[in-house]
Amino acid sequence: MNQEALEALLQDLSLEEKVYQLIQYQGANYSEDAVLTGLLDRNHITPRELGMAGSTLCIWGADKLRKIQDACMAVQPHHIPMLFMLDVIHGHRTVFPCPLGLGANFSPALVEQSAAVAARESAAEGVHVTFAPMADLVRDARWGRCMESTGEDACLNGQMAAAMVRGFQGDDLRSPEHIAACVKHFAGYGAPVAGKDYQNIELSEHTLREFYLPAYKAAIDAGARMVMTGFHACNGIPCTGNAWLMQQVLRQEMGFDGVLISDYCAVNEMVTHGFCEDLAAAAKAAMDAGVDIDMEGRSYAAALMKLVQSGAVPMARLDEAVRRVLRLKNELGLFEDPYHGAGEARAGEVVLRAAHRALARKIVAESLVLLKNQGGLLPLRQSKIAFVGPYEEDADLRSAWSFSGDPADSISVRRAAEELGWETRFAKGCTLLDNDTRHALGLFHTDDWKAENDTLLREAEEAAAWADTVVVCLGEHRLQTGEAASRVHLRLPEIQLELLRRVAAQNQKVVVLLFNGRPLVLDEVERYAGAILECWLPGTEGGHGILDVLTGVVSPSGKIPMSFPYAEGQEPMSYDHFSSGRPAAPGTETYACRYLDCPDGPRYPFGYGLSYTAFELTDAVLSSREMHPGEALALTANLKNTGKTAGSEVVQLYIRDVTGSRVRPVKSLKGFQKIFLQPGEHRQVRFTITEEMLRFYTLRNRWESEPGRFLVYLGTDSRVEEHLEFTLLQN
Ligand code: NOJ
Repeated sequence: MNQEALEALLQDLSLEEKVYQLIQYQGANYSEDAVLTGLLDRNHITPRELGMAGSTLCIWGADKLRKIQDACMAVQPHHIPMLFMLDVIHGHRTVFPCPLGLGANFSPALVEQSAAVAARESAAEGVHVTFAPMADLVRDARWGRCMESTGEDACLNGQMAAAMVRGFQGDDLRSPEHIAACVKHFAGYGAPVAGKDYQNIELSEHTLREFYLPAYKAAIDAGARMVMTGFHACNGIPCTGNAWLMQQVLRQEMGFDGVLISDYCAVNEMVTHGFCEDLAAAAKAAMDAGVDIDMEGRSYAAALMKLVQSGAVPMARLDEAVRRVLRLKNELGLFEDPYHGAGEARAGEVVLRAAHRALARKIVAESLVLLKNQGGLLPLRQSKIAFVGPYEEDADLRSAWSFSGDPADSISVRRAAEELGWETRFAKGCTLLDNDTRHALGLFHTDDWKAENDTLLREAEEAAAWADTVVVCLGEHRLQTGEAASRVHLRLPEIQLELLRRVAAQNQKVVVLLFNGRPLVLDEVERYAGAILECWLPGTEGGHGILDVLTGVVSPSGKIPMSFPYAEGQEPMSYDHFSSGRPAAPGTETYACRYLDCPDGPRYPFGYGLSYTAFELTDAVLSSREMHPGEALALTANLKNTGKTAGSEVVQLYIRDVTGSRVRPVKSLKGFQKIFLQPGEHRQVRFTITEEMLRFYTLRNRWESEPGRFLVYLGTDSRVEEHLEFTLLQN
């Protein structure tokens, strides 16, 4: 439809039709078997209201959505198609590693491909919009939603968020290969006080701007068609009614002109926040802030029509919001094809294609992080291997946000290990969680649990005693990370630690595989394991990708995207902290910025990860020691694979601004490259350092650089100390 026709359609709509374009009811209202999310509030909605609504969420299925589309369009006086939205977070039917795992692979190109696969599969099953990427910066492992982020660094998150947007949306949204992306949760949702989900954030404006906003901006610059508000309050004002954040920062400064949607019930929740008196006030606050769609929209449904009739919300504001929604529908080509190419035949053809699985397997292997490898315990040599622990046979390797993935399609560690044809034994060893924790999570639990668990433990001990090497597969339950899954204890469940102790008493050669969605405290694991491989929540091809790395077919190349602490009390933490006036350095043991009872810094730092081969990064040279305004510098170095196997290394560029009008981080990632080399092979690595990379939110409240000295670090993790230096000259 051309722009004139779209505008004519808008002008022809009744007030009721306009308002309903901004209302989104959850999919469970349309069918029985849909997945619910957030607060479930089954108010009575008439079939007519459901049909009039402009969009729905959290349902999929080609035939089902085609039927719902037909039914709704029949109710609509102007037969306007509905938008179907879903959380396609890390894959649809082919499930990729959870976003924290995607962050660990440090390969935006692969992440883009994973998003393209997710778009193809979900579009075939009727989805038009995904609520992804989640570009929230995460520095507090207590927060359950770390799993949904690509990590603690603004540069990494920005590149990953942009890659996801490109992958989901492609060049042409009308194509049945693509869906629209919705970047979330604007803004700063990843920094709730004390790591508790939904809490307010307390970030200074310069911290918000320097660390938290860039990744959303990168996604918006990459063309994300939608943005979602956060549940939380920022500067004391819930984001959904925060006009400064939404109008000034998002719309004016970032230039976002797409559809802004609230999070689930977040408009209503402004009443509970104590920010709005009632739903009408909440609807007005959201409309004033520029929120176009009310997700699970009871406020707009209850009050928006009257607000417009009374003039409290101007008709022009309503038109603006509806125009954005219609424009998105038009960009997706829904006025010509309301199903956007979805159909059972197409779904059957694209879902879980062999090529999709192969990509997932590759991405899993590249996202695994080898944390420890004493005495070269890994890769495994062909010998007697016991796989024990609750994740040895569990095929449910999804996160809490992969509604549409099916564990039945997924490859467990056991299944992949059996394909090897090696001499293997398997023993579960213990349940994933003890009875009480299962009960608390609303999971199946049984009175016989203790006796059953003792039997499992004994079987694991026997398998460990038999084996040359024992691989212990441990981790969090998938429901222990995700929304409303904050935790103060970051250790593995005690029953799993007990299994580890018992196994280690039988066999000295212990490899631990970790399945989790957040950094964990690993002291006991460190004590007993000779090798530790971080596997995240790896998805459909988890078992294959893991065995590829365990057996040395692929050398591990993942890097930690979020610091692993020694102790929970260190949270929140990140590598790019400020110096303080008294940094903890050798010789400054007293009155230093440190804890008395814990080593300074993380156990595993951002950017860290081992390989089966060895790399040397040498001959780093800067093209000049001075940067003139408007010029760029070239940084070159030589990377050589000095080991005996092929492998990839992630070369990381960090910069320190030595002095600023506001204190500057000790180091900030500014670029990275993942490079694959055969044994003995070397390659020149080249980065361009631009003046834009040196900008920050200065004391003048501007995003700009300041002249002065800069230190340049090129390394393979964030602890790199060796550096070069240049001076940015005055303009
Ligand atoms: C609530 C979550 O915060 C958000 O991330 C998600 O996209 C919506 N529910 C829809 O499921």
